[in-house]
Amino acid sequence: MPTFRPDLMSIPHYVPGRPIEEVARDLGIESIDKLASNECPEAPFPEVVDAVALAANTVNRYPDSSTYDLSRAIASHQGVAPDEVWVGAGSSEVLRCAALAVGGPGSSAVFAHPSFVMYRIATMVAWSEPIVVPLTSSYAHDLPAMAQAIRDDTAMVYVCNPNNPTGNHIAGVDLRSFLDAVPEQVLVVVDEAYAEYASAEDYQTFINEAPNRPNLLVTRTFSKVYGLAGLRVGYGVGAPELLVKLSHTQAPFTVTSTGQAAAIEAIKHPDRVAQRSERNASGRRLLSDGLVALGYDPAESQANFVYFEPPGDAGQLGDALLHQGQIVRVLGNGIRVTVGTQEENSRFLAVLESVVAT
Ligand SMILES: Cc1ncc(COP(=O)(O)O)c(C=O)c1O
Repeated sequence: MPTFRPDLMSIPHYVPGRPIEEVARDLGIESIDKLASNECPEAPFPEVVDAVALAANTVNRYPDSSTYDLSRAIASHQGVAPDEVWVGAGSSEVLRCAALAVGGPGSSAVFAHPSFVMYRIATMVAWSEPIVVPLTSSYAHDLPAMAQAIRDDTAMVYVCNPNNPTGNHIAGVDLRSFLDAVPEQVLVVVDEAYAEYASAEDYQTFINEAPNRPNLLVTRTFSKVYGLAGLRVGYGVGAPELLVKLSHTQAPFTVTSTGQAAAIEAIKHPDRVAQRSERNASGRRLLSDGLVALGYDPAESQANFVYFEPPGDAGQLGDALLHQGQIVRVLGNGIRVTVGTQEENSRFLAVLESVVAT
């Protein structure tokens, strides 16, 4: 047996939502809805499927490691320069590479809890110490406490906006004050994986400000509203000098040619993306209203999921739902349910009602 790093097994392992096939096999049930991974419930645009099929003809070659065309497509979509865009195999790769670039023994990273579990994993993989700041009782990032928690050895701070798993957002003015308060030697990652779903008037993306702030990286993904989770494409936006350094930890060719082709095509259809986002907002409303009608108090979501803390054991409720074919995510005391199709949303509420009635 080789000698492993001593902290290896204390690094949490990312636990994905259970696949439909696995639940069908284990529980012997046929009708299953997967509302556990914040995926887009709609198939990719047909033009995207065609672009992937075309790109499949050239997979005997390595992909373009510089993501030349995709970086340009993202840059023109977002109104930034191509060298202010860094593409990764999902935004999780961007997060992990950033953590590796600034972390290391003797460093620390600050993030909220509950928030996206990859922040803890990336921090620990980078051999940094996690500094966890609980959300407030209304599920908000406690930005003053996070600013206070920054130590001399802090290399990185993560802010998730809207936050996974609670779905709520940070108002632009509050986030700006926080960014102004963080010392320049600390990297701030503002993770905007769910930005396309946010419609609150005081929500603000920091993509266009990132290139002018030397310590800010804003991340986005094609895995959510663009519906390309299976192809692994995400990106970060920041100052070119920052991106050159952060991306030094990235392996070559991680962004596949099929993924690049799909993302280039998907980004050409902003109107359809906006329609998806509207359909998501109405599904989110249905789920939230339905949960309230059943006596729960869901968090105010600006994302493609809704989070609530049942009065009893969340694990037991999640299990009961699973046995009725509803795969949701249990996270500590809470349950996160992804907005599905209209039928899936209605079915989830009906099953939940019947499960709690028994
Ligand atoms: C907050 C947040 N950031 C980033 C990601 C990662 O997305 P991907 O690696 O698929 O781009 C997720 C995925 O669920 C997420 O919830």
